[in-house]
Amino acid sequence: MSKHIVVLGSQWGDEGKGKIVDLLTEEADAVVRFQGGHNAGHTLVIGDTRVVIRLLPSGIMRDNVQCFIGNGVVVSIVDLLQEIKSLVEMGIKVEGRLWISAACPIILPSHIALDQAHEQSLGKDKIGTTGRGIGPAYEGKVSRRAIRLGDTLDPDLFAEKLKKVLKYHNFLLREYYHVSELNYEQTLNEMLSLAFQVRPYISDVVGRLANFREHGKRILFEGAQGALLDVDHGTYPFVTSSNTTAGAAATGSGFGPLYLDYILGITKVYTTRVGSGPFPTELFDDIGARLAERGHEFGSNTGRPRRCGWLDIVALKRAIAINSITGLCLTKVDVLDGLDEIKLCIGYELNGVPVTDFPSEASEAEACKPIYETMPGWQGSTFGVKQKSSLPQAALNYIARIEELVKIPVDIISTGPERMETIILRDPFDDNK
Ligand code: GDP
Ligand code: IMO
Ligand code: MG
Repeated sequence: MSKHIVVLGSQWGDEGKGKIVDLLTEEADAVVRFQGGHNAGHTLVIGDTRVVIRLLPSGIMRDNVQCFIGNGVVVSIVDLLQEIKSLVEMGIKVEGRLWISAACPIILPSHIALDQAHEQSLGKDKIGTTGRGIGPAYEGKVSRRAIRLGDTLDPDLFAEKLKKVLKYHNFLLREYYHVSELNYEQTLNEMLSLAFQVRPYISDVVGRLANFREHGKRILFEGAQGALLDVDHGTYPFVTSSNTTAGAAATGSGFGPLYLDYILGITKVYTTRVGSGPFPTELFDDIGARLAERGHEFGSNTGRPRRCGWLDIVALKRAIAINSITGLCLTKVDVLDGLDEIKLCIGYELNGVPVTDFPSEASEAEACKPIYETMPGWQGSTFGVKQKSSLPQAALNYIARIEELVKIPVDIISTGPERMETIILRDPFDDNK
């Protein structure tokens, strides 16, 4: 029986991870975020309530689930506290259920200033980041300059580290980007007063997770962003600054990789992308506009319109390989309702040559022309359908064709934003491999 599962996005983010994590945590004892930061936006719909979660694990909505933020996550203390506050106002108990690793690098106000100044300096070549300081915070970690959450427990040490880091950041802001610097005293006072409020949550996440495992508890690792935004395997440089792929569930939490039993790849039945970067199946026609409208494809974090296109099997196969995805969860099937025909990208043409592997270079991916297979669409509504047998035959054929092309099973089908609008064919937690 699978006890430790990873749920991650197989495209460029916003596949519907939050909805599925919220649903599957009914059976979990713990949920763990292991990478990214508050650049994520995971929308949960529970009855009439709609909540967007950025930094906390999506399991937070279930009282009996313990929530962890592992060492791989970069933490904005301001946003963390705001998110906790808004959940507490909704009647959700957070203290005593949320545990954050002392090793998490802190996102400083200067990281945000650097992120925005860098984007500005790139002009038309900008990445289109969320402007939340994610990239500079990871740069700080890798260059061993980061201030970590555990450092807030010793205010003198924190002040000393902040002074050094801010001196460096201010040099960059002033001399390289020619923008305003940050005031040390003001930043220190703001950070320290907030840091005090985070103390109850700082904990030994590695130890707690090991203990959960020893006691046979079920743990769900929740990915943010998507496989194609991975800093190593994505469409670099149009990526986020963390590893979003399955291996990061282990490195970003301290839970050994061999303890992971099942990897669920969340896949939207079409594709979306926010920000710049290659997107071979992007649509610029009425169908693209229709997908955006019916799928409400506006960023749940920044509100930016998402670019839309057909499902890209070549990219999906790459995501399956780099994550060792066990089974897929297809989301937003209902958004395709009413289309006369549906296209699946089964290969590319690059400078007149057929290509079947996703290119590792962004410039090549940019130049790829999709080769499509066309299938009949379906009329009528699949919205909220809870039984596979109630889906129209054309929808069943589309799903079967995806399985055939990618050679792994579709284990879950999502037909609406609400928790219950889901068809579970094989429960990842009950998977007997
Ligand atoms: P995430 O970042 O992967 O968690 O995805 P987001 O929450 O950013 O975006 C997914 C959007 O689609 C959210 O607004 C969800 O409420 C919505 N959604 C998820 N699954 C479905 C589905 O099956 N059908 C429809 N119509 N909407 C869905
Ligand atoms: P969820 O978890 C979609 C994109 C940004 C930008 C690039 C780098 O909701 O799927 P960053 O601020 O991370 O340095 O921006 O990554 N991006 C996302 N796109 N969904 C997300 O998260 C994203 N998080 C970052 O738009 O192109
Ligand atoms: Mg999102």
